[in-house]
Amino acid sequence: MSEAETAVETAASEPRATYRTIAESRPEDYVVQNLYQKGLHDGVADLYLNFLRSLESPHLGFPVDRLEHSLQTATRAFRDGCDEEYVFTALFHDVGEAVAPANHPEAGGALLRPYVSDENYWLVRNHGVFQGYYYYHFIGRDRHLREHWRGHPNFEKTALFCEKYDQTSFDRDYDSMPLEAFEPMVRRILSQPPRFRFE
Ligand SMILES: [Fe+2]
Ligand SMILES: [Fe+2]
Repeated sequence: MSEAETAVETAASEPRATYRTIAESRPEDYVVQNLYQKGLHDGVADLYLNFLRSLESPHLGFPVDRLEHSLQTATRAFRDGCDEEYVFTALFHDVGEAVAPANHPEAGGALLRPYVSDENYWLVRNHGVFQGYYYYHFIGRDRHLREHWRGHPNFEKTALFCEKYDQTSFDRDYDSMPLEAFEPMVRRILSQPPRFRFE
């Protein structure tokens, strides 16, 4: 089959909308696009898992690399009997490091927000200053910065996350579960339609 014939065959088996601008699109374009909705979430879980894998290097001087830290945090939450979405949140709480290392809580919060509850989103979005309670005073920052949020409905939950799971998870000797053990859970949650908030 010639190149031209192959192109024609592909075009026939994979129809595409034909507009050049949205303003000139027609209803039938959306019928065509709808044919592909089924595969909309294919690849999302792999992308997120690869974000996590990317945290294995560089180690940046931490006692354990950031992938191991993530696994350790999630393993502790899992072994404590936390619910699935919380374990997922624990696993991905530092995922923002993959895309915005200088402001990972904000980036991580944005990545997780479509897939988790408001309170788990808030936990990820703000965990940085709560974690800071354990070390900011060593680097010239105010360890009590989290007090800004005292009284917020998610204060205690976020403080507890850092106390029990996040700040404890730099232990080289901890037997963390491998990423593969969490994969079915990750795929379950990331195959859900993302939540949409109009705000
Ligand atoms: Fe963090
Ligand atoms: Fe962390």
